[in-house]
Amino acid sequence: MLSSPLVRVLSLSLLPLITMSADTPAYLDPSLPVEQRLDDLLPRLTMAEKIALVHADSKFSTAGVPRLGIPKLWLSDGPHGVREEIGPDTWDPAGRTDDFSTWLPVSMALASTWSEELAEAYGGVIAAEARQRGKVIMLGPGVNILRTPLNGRTFEYLGEDPWLASRLAVADIRGIQAGQVAACVKHFAVNNQETERMSINTEVDERTLRELYLPAFEAAVKEAGVLSVMGAYNRFRGQFCCHNDYLLNRVLKGEWGFTGLVVSDWDGVHDTREAVFNGLDLEMGTSNRAYDEFYLARPFREGIERGEFPQALLDDKVRRNLRVLFTTGAVDGRKPGAINTPAHQAVARRVANEAIVLLKNEGAALPLDLTRIQRIAVIGDNATRLQARGGWSSEIKAFYEVSLLQGLLARVGPHADITFSQGYQPPQRRRSGAADGAGVVAMESAAAAEAREAEALIERAVEAARAADVAIVVGGLNHDTHQDTEGSDRLGLELPYGQAELIARVTAANPRTIVVLAAGAPVAMDPWLEKVPAVVQAWYAGMEGGHAIAGVLFGDVNPSGKLPCTFPRRLSDSPAHASGAARQFPGENGTVHYDEGLLVGYRWFDTKGIEPLFPFGHGLSYTSYAYSALKIVPAADSPAALEVECQVTNTGARAGAETVQVYVHDRVAAVARPEQELRGFAKVRLAAGETQVLRIPLSPRALAYYDEAGRRWVAEAGDFEIRVGASSRDIRLRAEHRLAVTTVVP
Ligand code: BGC
Repeated sequence: MLSSPLVRVLSLSLLPLITMSADTPAYLDPSLPVEQRLDDLLPRLTMAEKIALVHADSKFSTAGVPRLGIPKLWLSDGPHGVREEIGPDTWDPAGRTDDFSTWLPVSMALASTWSEELAEAYGGVIAAEARQRGKVIMLGPGVNILRTPLNGRTFEYLGEDPWLASRLAVADIRGIQAGQVAACVKHFAVNNQETERMSINTEVDERTLRELYLPAFEAAVKEAGVLSVMGAYNRFRGQFCCHNDYLLNRVLKGEWGFTGLVVSDWDGVHDTREAVFNGLDLEMGTSNRAYDEFYLARPFREGIERGEFPQALLDDKVRRNLRVLFTTGAVDGRKPGAINTPAHQAVARRVANEAIVLLKNEGAALPLDLTRIQRIAVIGDNATRLQARGGWSSEIKAFYEVSLLQGLLARVGPHADITFSQGYQPPQRRRSGAADGAGVVAMESAAAAEAREAEALIERAVEAARAADVAIVVGGLNHDTHQDTEGSDRLGLELPYGQAELIARVTAANPRTIVVLAAGAPVAMDPWLEKVPAVVQAWYAGMEGGHAIAGVLFGDVNPSGKLPCTFPRRLSDSPAHASGAARQFPGENGTVHYDEGLLVGYRWFDTKGIEPLFPFGHGLSYTSYAYSALKIVPAADSPAALEVECQVTNTGARAGAETVQVYVHDRVAAVARPEQELRGFAKVRLAAGETQVLRIPLSPRALAYYDEAGRRWVAEAGDFEIRVGASSRDIRLRAEHRLAVTTVVP
């Protein structure tokens, strides 16, 4: 008879616990250092066993070495939780019932919390669920810098600033790896668009590469000790990133001393010779080939046998693969995992609470007061749309997902009537047969029918809004093609499906209209923004999202999220699009040129004096904060390092959390520098009336730029202005700082 599931789980987890005896080989002795164990294991492996370790044997695993008790290496997406199981050789779902997991708010939401503490807890949830599901490597976090708001994967990344992205990535990775799971920071590097994603070549100058696009990876390696790195699909300076000599051998493994595993993106490998020599350690997902025909399978083995490839390169790759299995404890047996626990759901909720950004709140339209409201009209597809299972590799088969409508119903209870009106209809739902109720006549053309349907939906929404005390329009984007998704970029900044008209007409019918945006990227808000008193950026807020947003709308939660990216007024205001030249986006003849250089995000808007719709770092609160007593304290360890001290007082009537941001402005420099750059931040929780003194350390690189000729970081002697603010455009305190001597910093 088959054993019960419980018995099977126990016996599986006990399997690797090997009883030690005098004959136990050194590689199986957990008390020995990992490197010593690897030294012992390597010579025991046959050529075939070694080759099996450096390429996939299913969509998400490698073979292990069963003969020697080395388990398979299981990998899984992704950044927002542990992905659904798929078949071994297909992308189709495996149809299991034990792979529902916690859906955490998406990475952009995490970035909006500006909270390292939450990022670490987030990583902890991923690790516990990964262990429960038997995963050794989790494919995240994604840290590519937001260069264009059109990038379909913006929602999977951590915004436009390298310092913010670095801090959150480091904390997330620490959380994951403290839980005996390897993180895999991705996609290395300059992977900033989905258009022509499998082939586009990126040309970017060295200083921009070092100052913007590499720091989050560098911090992941040097500070968090990330155990694996995923190569990107695109090319960099002509060579594919998954086997790019400069990025992988020279920078990652050479300069940064990375001893972990370089994993290819799925189907990102194109050539055996380059894969062998240019730093790749594990080939995954190559399409249309049997596993044994992968570039790092039979062709690699035969190349070694013919003497074309040195054996030492195979041994190095094998060692790096095994290092992950040993360091995580996967060989010895890891502690038990857990999935969908109340504690995990609580983390999802806390992150969502702190991720929601209150963009606008005129006349204290929010929070809503239930003692004065009898009827609420909820309007819009995103009020009911479930978002977890969308966007491709980062999607999650969520254990549950609280939609905003559900969250509102739960919060409001019997205290007010809620009506729901669809408002707008994304075409895919229409095609899938959802009721349109608009009486479409079969003779009409599809376009005319669509227009009639759209008009009917708006009219009904307007009626609902007119009859209500307050209207809440829940719109934004979704994970359909050309929206927030892998595989395609957005086609424009505008809200899709006629939402701008819907919002304008609903607002005209009921000026008390609140707009809630579920979207993973900036959207344009002209011309309706000025008519709407309040706008809430909710991102995709995870499985507890509906509760969290309702909490913000009714004031149970005081919003504290701040934008991790600039919201431009129009696409042509933003750096990659200002010239309108195809060479800058989406590329010309297969190459995209980052001609804007360092001026990405607020660095562009501030240097060029362009007014954003909402600036980087912006986010309102139901209370207010006063900043005072700025002091710059030189740090002891390096002449270029500083500490910024200031006081923050909660001057309102509610408790809240404020993210204090430190920007550095270089007054005179030998090279062109952006107007200002974020170099530190701290999130502080304050009771009403409370004051706290903050000390924010700035790293030695805070004053520095990357000196291309010298290939080093230089803090140049001279005058700097240190700016402390509530956003990049709301600077509250300024102080002068003079660096006496030019200093080369690490
Ligand atoms: C994505 C990666 C992902 C991998 C595995 C690729 O298409 O670019 O981010 O981890 O698939 O699903």
